[in-house]
Amino acid sequence: MIRQVLVLNGPNLGRLGAREPEIYGSASFDDLAELCRLTGRKLGLSVDIRQTDDESELIGWVHEAADGRIPVVLNPAAFTHYSYALRDALAMRTAPLVEVHISNRAARESFRHTSVVAAVADGTVAGFGLVSYQLALQAIAALAAEAEPARAPGPQLEPEPGGAAR
Ligand code: DQA
Repeated sequence: MIRQVLVLNGPNLGRLGAREPEIYGSASFDDLAELCRLTGRKLGLSVDIRQTDDESELIGWVHEAADGRIPVVLNPAAFTHYSYALRDALAMRTAPLVEVHISNRAARESFRHTSVVAAVADGTVAGFGLVSYQLALQAIAALAAEAEPARAPGPQLEPEPGGAAR
């Protein structure tokens, strides 16, 4: 079964490639989108990746995910550090949520050490460049599989006469 996943990205991430490449690397947002879609395909996930600089648009997408029970990988970008509105929206989630960051926030300026959304996520992946997104999608696939109702039992082996089923 193919499962839909939203990969949501906050402000300035549309500028990847041009934006502080020494921190965020040289790949563009389109490269990231392609990587996420490919990674998703291998994991049985259909990835819808979006980016906005607008807090209200991002919150609208979070509501959409909650209404549709859609798992989310989220890089809130600078909203990570101060958006209680985004955190409150995420608290309404109805499916797995993984927070993701390209850079290692803990090794950067102190204002980046705080995440106001981390506590409402299942977990956070940070510091591995674009690989962070691949790891986050892997986590989503695992969490979604865990949450799926147990499959109907497959065909049962008939015991052999005089012996146990193999
Ligand atoms: C970021 C880290 C944030 O501190 C920053 O504001 C970003 C990107 C990351 O992916 O490393 O925009 O979320």
